[in-house]
Amino acid sequence: MEICGGKPLSGRVEIQGSKNAVLPILAGCILHRGISRINHCPRIRDVFDTTELLEILGCQVWWEGNCLAVDASRVRGWQIPIQIASRMRSSILFLGALLGRVGKAQLPYPGGCVLGDRPVDLHLQAMEEMGAGIEEENGRIRAEAEELQGREITLRFPSVGATENIILAAVCARGMTIIRNGAREPEIEELCSFFREKGADIRRQEDGSLSIRGGKELTDSRHDLAADRIVAGTYLMAAAVTNGCVTLGRMPSEHLKEVLHTMKQMGIRMEKMGKDLKVDGRGPRRAPERIETAPYPGFPTDLQSPMMALLAVTEGTCCIRENIFESRFETAFQLQKMGAKIEVKGREARVTGIPRLYGNWVEARELRGAAALFLAGLNAAGITQIKGFGYISRGYETICEDMKNLGAQVRIIE
Ligand code: EPZ
Repeated sequence: MEICGGKPLSGRVEIQGSKNAVLPILAGCILHRGISRINHCPRIRDVFDTTELLEILGCQVWWEGNCLAVDASRVRGWQIPIQIASRMRSSILFLGALLGRVGKAQLPYPGGCVLGDRPVDLHLQAMEEMGAGIEEENGRIRAEAEELQGREITLRFPSVGATENIILAAVCARGMTIIRNGAREPEIEELCSFFREKGADIRRQEDGSLSIRGGKELTDSRHDLAADRIVAGTYLMAAAVTNGCVTLGRMPSEHLKEVLHTMKQMGIRMEKMGKDLKVDGRGPRRAPERIETAPYPGFPTDLQSPMMALLAVTEGTCCIRENIFESRFETAFQLQKMGAKIEVKGREARVTGIPRLYGNWVEARELRGAAALFLAGLNAAGITQIKGFGYISRGYETICEDMKNLGAQVRIIE
């Protein structure tokens, strides 16, 4: 990826469907012996990899315009191949779905990436509590369950993936499952809506716990996928980092309250216009003193790196604390190569804004870091070249075209 920075973005762009909502939903499709349709499904690498997994398991998968259809009438397989699963962590979600559908699963240990070691102990403990026998040997997980039993499960941490895996297992389990201290991200609510549309009995209780009565007959369905709140936040920051003025269509503002509040505090003007949001980044900005990532509805960890790129060119000093992953500051060292003033100490990074970054050759090593470097390149004087930009296609459907349509000068170098 090569970017010639300094062009203020202007115009209108629509936000794609949500990656982190559609991935658990695609795993959930195998729980229904019929057809599930997903409107606004994004054409991103993680979706293509997951549809490949579904076909290996025996499903038929096809596109109808921007709707993805999955026919899981015949699911024969139960082994997830390492060459696909190792590309994305969300393959772990097939553990709960396969145990629910075929009573067994074998998949590679998803392992860590630059964000940290990313264990799956909470997933495995929950499956064992629901009656599955789990073996971990030479990097692989084997699980079996005659029939999963509904249980009351309390998570020591509101893990998004573990919460999703329990929901996937509980839909076909015998009896009632209650999840306490589960994640409350919009993607969790959307997975529940997807199953409710199929006839499942899933309720949010007064005390915040989630109850799932398993064994209900599921039906064919068509789900309207919500817009991707992390892509929306990234585009908001692209408008601000280029001092531009952009209108975002299908803007999931209600899922980004903490981010919008922070950006308003910084002096970035935003105006709701029906389902659109107009963001005007042309005025002066000031950095907030502190930003801490937290489980929803706190500041999302997935926008920490893009926000760091924006703070790098925002007057003032901000201390960012990353509370979710143990090492999600890799991008800071690449931003320093573009002139950013960032000091990293453990889980905290102090960012002191400068008027403008300068172009350089930088390297991305994961999805949201690549997005952050893209934003930095849009701001920087001169040319920025990003190696490893391919990570971005895992989660951003048309970011290059979108930014070009808004006036950015970007090109992919094959
Ligand atoms: C999901 O990952 C998202 N991925 C991540 O987005 C997101 O950053 C994360 O939730 C937090 O919001 C998808 O939805 C596909 P977690 P997940 O389980 O489920 C620890 C992106 O860029 N933990 O909530 O893996 C873990 O190590 C990606 O789109 C355990 O200790 O997140 C981490 O420190 C990156 N044991 C913390 O919890 C476990 O069994 C949060 O992990 C599970 C997790």
